[in-house]
Amino acid sequence: MPATDTPPLSVREALRIRRSVRAFTDAPVDPARLRDIFAAAQRAPSGGNLQPWQVTVVTGARWQAVKDAVAARIAMGREGYEPEYDIYPKGLTDPWESRRFGVGEALYGALGIPREDKPARLAQFMDNYRGFGAPVMLFLHTSRIMGSPQWSDMGIWLQSVMLLLVEAGLASCPQECWAMYGATVRRTLGLDDGQILFTGLAIGHADAEAAVNQWPVPRAGIDEVIDWQGF
Ligand SMILES: Cc1cc2nc3c(=O)[nH]c(=O)nc-3n(C[C@H](O)[C@H](O)[C@H](O)COP(=O)(O)O)c2cc1C
Repeated sequence: MPATDTPPLSVREALRIRRSVRAFTDAPVDPARLRDIFAAAQRAPSGGNLQPWQVTVVTGARWQAVKDAVAARIAMGREGYEPEYDIYPKGLTDPWESRRFGVGEALYGALGIPREDKPARLAQFMDNYRGFGAPVMLFLHTSRIMGSPQWSDMGIWLQSVMLLLVEAGLASCPQECWAMYGATVRRTLGLDDGQILFTGLAIGHADAEAAVNQWPVPRAGIDEVIDWQGF
């Protein structure tokens, strides 16, 4: 159910224009449109066709309950921290560490926040826990028995959803930061301990004017990542 007032996007164009949106308007999202997107995303492939993705989507009071519960944990400081998994490997080396550092610098640079202004950088990061103002939050979780291949399947599903959202004129931001307070999120959503939270996905309408949505997000060239053999 793409937006009717715009021509359909090619996959290539949807890939080109998708970005992690970090400022949303408060315009609501039509649940029928989301339902249609999730139905389409069920075509995502997975090893053995396990389809290991399990998804909880919240809005309104249920979404507010998650934000409130996590805010209470954050207020506890380090004590409140309850990571589901290591978001990055310990001792991340180059080229990955430079890419991680580079995208942070580009983001804060676009907002005019210098490196020394730690409070402003922290405030920008903490906006994660409002879902950047998105009216809908999707939580992607799976059974704890699943391993790396099934986690990769969840990523394929996630990108499918993100591209379908773009096609529908909607925006998103994947947010693994919620996994830092995974147990609280799961408890608030009523998920049992057999589940593990991978990521959130903030969903809504992009605030096109916001500087945080307008900077160019760098990517490595293909020669950095592709080794052609036998051509
Ligand atoms: C699984 C996953 C989790 C992410 N978690 C966060 C997050 O917690 N907060 C955030 O601001 N961005 C998050 N991102 C967005 C990445 O920073 C972003 O995808 C990357 O810098 C490339 O930028 P782009 O998505 O705008 O192309 C996440 C991305 C993925 C795929």
